[in-house]
Amino acid sequence: MPRVLFLSPGYPAEMPMFVSGLAEVGVEIYGLGDQPAALLPLAVRRALADYRRVRSLWNDAEVIDEARAWLAGREPDRVECLWEPGMILAARLREALGARGLSVERTIPLRNKERMKQVLDAAGIRTPRHLAARGADEIRAAAERVGYPLIVKPIAGAGSADTHRVEDARELEPAIAATRHVQEVSVEEFVDGEEYTFDTVSIAGRPAYFNVAWYRPRPLVARTNEWISPQVVALRRPDQPALAAGVEMGRRVLDALGFETGFTHMEWYAKADGEVVFGEIGGRPPGAHQVDQMNYACDIDVFRGWAEAIAFGRFSENVRRLYNVATVYKRAQGRGTIRRVVGMEELRRRHGDAIVWENLLPVGSPRRNWKQTLVSDGFVVVRHPDLEATLALADELATDVRLYAA
Ligand SMILES: Nc1ncnc2c1ncn2[C@@H]1O[C@H](COP(=O)(O)OP(=O)(O)OP(=O)(O)O)[C@@H](O)[C@H]1O
Ligand SMILES: [Mg+2]
Repeated sequence: MPRVLFLSPGYPAEMPMFVSGLAEVGVEIYGLGDQPAALLPLAVRRALADYRRVRSLWNDAEVIDEARAWLAGREPDRVECLWEPGMILAARLREALGARGLSVERTIPLRNKERMKQVLDAAGIRTPRHLAARGADEIRAAAERVGYPLIVKPIAGAGSADTHRVEDARELEPAIAATRHVQEVSVEEFVDGEEYTFDTVSIAGRPAYFNVAWYRPRPLVARTNEWISPQVVALRRPDQPALAAGVEMGRRVLDALGFETGFTHMEWYAKADGEVVFGEIGGRPPGAHQVDQMNYACDIDVFRGWAEAIAFGRFSENVRRLYNVATVYKRAQGRGTIRRVVGMEELRRRHGDAIVWENLLPVGSPRRNWKQTLVSDGFVVVRHPDLEATLALADELATDVRLYAA
């Protein structure tokens, strides 16, 4: 039975699904995290052979010493972490415990957006023009060289929290002020176009399964306008000609990074003139329940598929591309507590068959911070074999279902 050390099995929200996947395929699972064991979801506690709570996940040397002493004689075959901030720690643990999987050296370009683009530039992949900068003077100098419009964002960001679009030199100053707390930023050419993902479960560097999702609208727009209900649409035909250049780039990116086995989540841009440009890549799955979305698209279990891939080097889920799937994230109007949800009943009456998951915050719940989580005040997932019909449904959901808070 393969033995896997899994970092942070209880957090974030989707980790328990991956733990369950590992349990289903017959892995001996060791959990390590900073949560008390009693607070782990019951399914996780049952699935784990053992759990070690560490004081903090941010002191790598201490965690490695503790893990070594705790696991003595039970060295894992693999160390897995599907949570962005823990990826380097996972790589260090692999090296310290002699487990298989990505080294620290190969993990760094997946975490550092400047290193990432340097490696891809060297492989001839089209990235946005970019420069790293520390402090106001360097940012101004980088902006002159990159040209406007541009993007200023943290080297190791996630969640678009500190990503700023800048039109001209005058707008640069507020962006400099807003990112003062960030040590190092990337200054990038702004790439106009549509934005897609290329997500894979890969085995020895080759995608065993892949998914392409379309962001409506682009994440930066969705995250700066509260009134928008952002949509992420998993496409039933990821092999269509219009997406071929992006998918091909995705495969080359995996090669260039020397990615091995596990989940990847890449974002890329398609310009109006047909050119495709790399956005970013993580060695982990997307969040916001987009793995569930992949499951609904093919009636498979990608959590289990990932587990089988990392434990046994196989992916035996039966991938039939049956549906386009749209997840529509909702934000309530007003502040405070959700008081009223309208439009859902009508939607159910009209399109009941197409709704696969309703997960809106119930009346009485406090609103979530929409800037911090794409999930916002909840979401509804719909699916349909036809793309036009899926988009029409998603748009209806976006405009006609409303949450009110007070
Ligand atoms: N060079 C660029 N040109 C155009 N848009 C960009 C560029 N860089 C970032 N963006 C926009 O900002 C968003 C966030 O950027 P990016 O994905 O690099 O940051 P992030 O913090 O990792 O976000 P997330 O965790 O949401 O993926 C992108 O999805 C895109 O909409
Ligand atoms: Mg991103």
